[in-house]
Amino acid sequence: MPDRADRLLAEMTLEEKLGQLNMIDAGAPPDGAAAMERDIAAGRIGSLFNAYGAAETNALQRLAVEQSRLRIPLIFGFDVLHGHRTIFPIPLAEACAFDPGLWQRTAQAAADEAARDGISLTFAPMLDVCRDPRWGRIAEGPGDDALVASRYGEAKVRGFQGAELSGRASVAATAKHIGAYGAVAAGREYGPVDVSERQLPEVYLPPFEAAAKACAAAIMPSQNDVAGIPMTAHGEILNNLLRARWGFDGVVMSDYDSVVELIKHGVAESIEDAAVLALLAGVDIDMQSRCYVRALPAALEHGRVRMDDIDRAVRRVLRLKARLGLFDDPFSRTSASPASAERHAALARDAARRSVVLLTNERGVLPLTPRTKSIALIGPLADAPLEMFGPWFAAAGLESATILAGLRAALPHAEIVHVAGVPIEDRDESGIPAALAAARAADVVILSLGEPKTLSGEAHSRGHIDLPGSQRALAEAVLALGKPTIAILSHGRPLALPWLFERADAVLATWFLGSEAGHGIADVLTGAWNPSGRLALSWPVDVGQIPTFHSQRTTGRPGKPDVHYSSRHIDLPIEPQFCFGHGLSYTRFEVTALTATPAEFAPGDPVTVEADILNAGEVAGEETVLLFLRDPVASVARPALELKGFAKAMLTPGARQTVRFRLSGSDFAFLDQKLEPRIEPGAFEILVGPCADRNQLKAITIRFRVKPH
Ligand code: NOJ
Repeated sequence: MPDRADRLLAEMTLEEKLGQLNMIDAGAPPDGAAAMERDIAAGRIGSLFNAYGAAETNALQRLAVEQSRLRIPLIFGFDVLHGHRTIFPIPLAEACAFDPGLWQRTAQAAADEAARDGISLTFAPMLDVCRDPRWGRIAEGPGDDALVASRYGEAKVRGFQGAELSGRASVAATAKHIGAYGAVAAGREYGPVDVSERQLPEVYLPPFEAAAKACAAAIMPSQNDVAGIPMTAHGEILNNLLRARWGFDGVVMSDYDSVVELIKHGVAESIEDAAVLALLAGVDIDMQSRCYVRALPAALEHGRVRMDDIDRAVRRVLRLKARLGLFDDPFSRTSASPASAERHAALARDAARRSVVLLTNERGVLPLTPRTKSIALIGPLADAPLEMFGPWFAAAGLESATILAGLRAALPHAEIVHVAGVPIEDRDESGIPAALAAARAADVVILSLGEPKTLSGEAHSRGHIDLPGSQRALAEAVLALGKPTIAILSHGRPLALPWLFERADAVLATWFLGSEAGHGIADVLTGAWNPSGRLALSWPVDVGQIPTFHSQRTTGRPGKPDVHYSSRHIDLPIEPQFCFGHGLSYTRFEVTALTATPAEFAPGDPVTVEADILNAGEVAGEETVLLFLRDPVASVARPALELKGFAKAMLTPGARQTVRFRLSGSDFAFLDQKLEPRIEPGAFEILVGPCADRNQLKAITIRFRVKPH
């Protein structure tokens, strides 16, 4: 039976159809604001982005639903990456919480705020696995592991979209950017990608499959090419894999200008070529380049596309609008009563403290004790309210709780003196003497160092992942005083600072934690929250180690520091600075009683892995337990460690809890030489523990056998 989309389609002119495929940046309309409004009223624009706020979106929506011939409502898109008005930790930070429930809750709160601002679709979650911290967009993604990225993607889709996409607090999620954008050459933004055919299904595509299976409403191809085929024209992935094999039935929308950029990629000569390539590859919406509206009429006339191809894309867009409830009430989202700012602030604080990773903590310098009477808080990021937001936040007029504000609120009786010392980015050392004077006079020094938020995010790749400006000079001068010194890093990527890790008594990775950054950090510093964050990626010692990640293959000559002909750099350590999963706590956990049943398994048998987690320390804390698999002998060499699961246990001192993982046949399968999934008989090692350091993992071996007929 024809649905609303079919009925509308039957009435639409070609111009109106192409209008539905045309998405325009309301903040930078290519032909100016007046033309944009005329085009909306004429049905030549189907969706907008970068407009928000009830007044603005409703006014534009009225043009569509009151003036256009068929009264088809607009979709309003927006980049709600980590919060809208309440800003949550950047995705890379939040990934370190290893907590799907939290990931879902923050997406839900963000959707709630965004929807009230008239937004019906977000360009999130960003699911680009990345192993190169030079890439500025590593800040927007969930780290370097495909499983974490997949769980993260599912949770975000559920959070954004809610139980019903038509809900007043629901927005359509766009899983982006398929695919392998995180593998741009040398971490250079918009660079070419040349990953192997194996890495696509093993590393870069699984998060998108997970998001598609979680019913993400939309998917955005990345701006890069993969081995010469720009993703915007990649029919094999967009049509054959995403739609035909994974069953994705939502909307594929291009990235900004990506359709016209097919010309610069060198696969199209004209905008007509570009439009044809993208449409036939399965791209439904053309974001900003207007190639579809300008060139598809000619392409149709030239027989290069059929009306069916256009109708298929239009139908998908109209169905999304129907699912969003826009035909029933295009203003329902903006008419909801205001979201609870207090509840969202509490959630932001919880997310912030759970995202902090305690990297080092020597001589028990942390947590701060109530005996700490005076603190010198030194550094340019300690009182920088806008910096805490990170690269993606849009709403104007927001302020975050700074580190200074957080500490003052948490330690009302301590004397806290703040001296910036140096600017964040510029070279200027004139403030260092004042910083040293403050440090000398204090019991404890806290150094607040890092990157400005503008060094992360899109178009912010760095060749050197260190502290900009004069921050190192400041830090070294302070460290030379020999006072107990804690360094708090604010950053969008791992920073290669071996000298700091060596010399500071404690270092915290606090990323960009958002609205409640200062309170979240203070909770960790004072022990009000026992740090539980774990690195969702390996942290290199130096740029020269990139890429370094836990699932690398061992090679025929595994790296050994003292073996010359082994896989290593002669001037760098083999291991990263901090491995995947690293993160300290104020207590000690032990993994005991690891079992896997059955010890021998056959195809189709589920395998249950259990381990007891003991809090062997003095304070309560939350442990993240990781389960890795290693297939030591297979017809294709397998990764040194493959993450297959993670679980959490909240334990009081002395308490013990059993964590349970259920593995299925597919967990033991790998892609064979023809890239077909198979399980080969033989031994599998199951390793359970806190991080990807083999010395900290408990291992057990189980065997897979082929059942006799
Ligand atoms: C370009 C970015 O690559 C993409 O992630 C974003 O959603 C769009 N611009 C829209 O802002």
